[in-house]
Amino acid sequence: MKKAESTSVISLRGLTKRYGVGDAEHTVLGNIDLEIKKGEFIAVMGPSGCGKTTLLNVLGLLDKPDEGEYLLDGKPVERITSAKRAEIRSRRIGFVFQSFNLVPRLNVIENVALPLAYTGTSHLKSIKRASAMLKQFHLNEREYYMPWQLSGGQTQRVAIARALVNDPSIILADEPTGNLDSKSSHIILEELSDIHRRGNTIIMVTHNPDMTTYADRVITMLDGKIDTDTKTAVVKNTRSTVDKKVTLGSRSKSSKRSKKERK
Ligand SMILES: Nc1ncnc2c1ncn2[C@@H]1O[C@H](COP(=O)(O)OP(=O)(O)OP(=O)(O)O)[C@@H](O)[C@H]1O
Ligand SMILES: [Mg+2]
Repeated sequence: MKKAESTSVISLRGLTKRYGVGDAEHTVLGNIDLEIKKGEFIAVMGPSGCGKTTLLNVLGLLDKPDEGEYLLDGKPVERITSAKRAEIRSRRIGFVFQSFNLVPRLNVIENVALPLAYTGTSHLKSIKRASAMLKQFHLNEREYYMPWQLSGGQTQRVAIARALVNDPSIILADEPTGNLDSKSSHIILEELSDIHRRGNTIIMVTHNPDMTTYADRVITMLDGKIDTDTKTAVVKNTRSTVDKKVTLGSRSKSSKRSKKERK
């Protein structure tokens, strides 16, 4: 038990989050227990309002739980100072927001370079790195556009480029393909798969079952709780085809999955 815990990058115990006060108080995340190992690619699904974004916000240190414990790399997040939390966010966590959150007064390349400003990277280096990211997402011709001049899909790709520019080891993506057509969605997912193959941890909210084929674990949420938790194995994983998956079992069975398979 102890050993399994020590390999968890994220560990939630009895995590509870409420909004509102008095009669209006409602529990958005109710008593969630969750272990996420380094290098997992998790898809989170569930109906609108079930708490997916709230969960990502807590995992990304943007929001605090009301009860329960969140251990990041085995350390209770609660005890981390706010300065250190900001540092962890800027160095380790890449966040693709559901609403994109591009800064309206900055152009595309400045938006993508923004996370690097918090890591002490020089301006020139940041712009070069941002430019390379934009090229990867076929947006090099839009570098000097303002956010309001982009289509929904382009805005989404800029938001993803920005989340990945600082090479984060944990990527939290809230419906990263929500505005994209099927082809663009698979391009984004292949990009995320590459990042996953390099050993990084990805937690992606999606409404699209096709997108879960890239994940090695699918969690469904219902009314602020984890409803199902299923591990799957990628049988085929090439750049041009959608991965075929084999369901290995639900939560209880999944622990039987061999270590070798996880690597
Ligand atoms: N700041 C807030 N104040 C009060 N209630 C909130 C707040 N943020 C979220 N909620 C409520 O918490 C619940 C879960 O919201 P959340 O955004 O996590 O859902 P979701 O699963 O991401 O939904 P969607 O699929 O529509 O994005 C909703 O009922 C929502 O109204
Ligand atoms: Mg949401």
